[in-house]
Amino acid sequence: MTVTIDGKELAKKIRANLKIECEELNKKEIKSKLAVIMVGDDPASKVYVRNKSKACEDVGIEYEEYLLDSNISQKELIDLIKKLNQDNTVNGILLQSPIPSKLDINEAFKTIAPEKDVDGFNPTNVGKLVLNQDTFVSCTPYGIMKMFEEYNIDLNCKNVVILGRSNIVGKPLIHCCLNKNATVTICHSKTRNIKEIASKADILISAIGKANFVTTDMVKENAVVIDVGINRTDNGKITGDVDFENVKEKASYITPVPGGVGPMTIAMLMNNVIKATRRQKGMKD
Ligand code: GUN
Repeated sequence: MTVTIDGKELAKKIRANLKIECEELNKKEIKSKLAVIMVGDDPASKVYVRNKSKACEDVGIEYEEYLLDSNISQKELIDLIKKLNQDNTVNGILLQSPIPSKLDINEAFKTIAPEKDVDGFNPTNVGKLVLNQDTFVSCTPYGIMKMFEEYNIDLNCKNVVILGRSNIVGKPLIHCCLNKNATVTICHSKTRNIKEIASKADILISAIGKANFVTTDMVKENAVVIDVGINRTDNGKITGDVDFENVKEKASYITPVPGGVGPMTIAMLMNNVIKATRRQKGMKD
């Protein structure tokens, strides 16, 4: 029997626990605040940012938004990040990607203080993940790992195949899975025989951004299938990378879109903001 992994429900549970934790911090006169920077007006980013602000409100995290014009200079962006690094009332800083291509996003991520880098994109935090040291893990991979934990899906000795090599999902996921003793293969646009590779996976994770890319012939019987894709169809519906209706007949576990990985990403962001706050106040996690 196939289990549909309920990311929405799990995210709700995590957020409810974080809300209690936030209330406990408030009793000690400790407030938690996330600052979000968005450059330009990418429609998808606007939706993501709105969802992040709603989640903060729900958990009790203060939220500050910086909506910058797409003509902003690199110096202005870097100066804002430096100002937020210095601001003791700000515990987490998130720069929503993408930003206009004339700006250097790598320099911007590098400027975010590692202890406030709740997205885990600063090279220091990326390096710590690679070395299997405690760090802020970027939110989508972290959310996927939480799902595995909740559903008792053990990665030890498993063949994990990841489709997509983005800095936000694919690359950090490699290390999350490797740190759990999986054998990891990553496929991308230049990979030959993706179908053949995918069909050997015990756990198949697709973060490629193409609707219906993962079809039943790419999925091993009883594989775990995780769908990170968020694609908009011609009729405005949100759909993942996986041909859900057909693949679910073959998978042991599968995540739906919507209601799978998406809500977990936001829950783990909230988790990272609270973790950052506690650490900045010298408290244990
Ligand atoms: N753009 C798409 N996903 C993300 C994310 O998780 N974090 C940031 N900063 N930008 C994104």
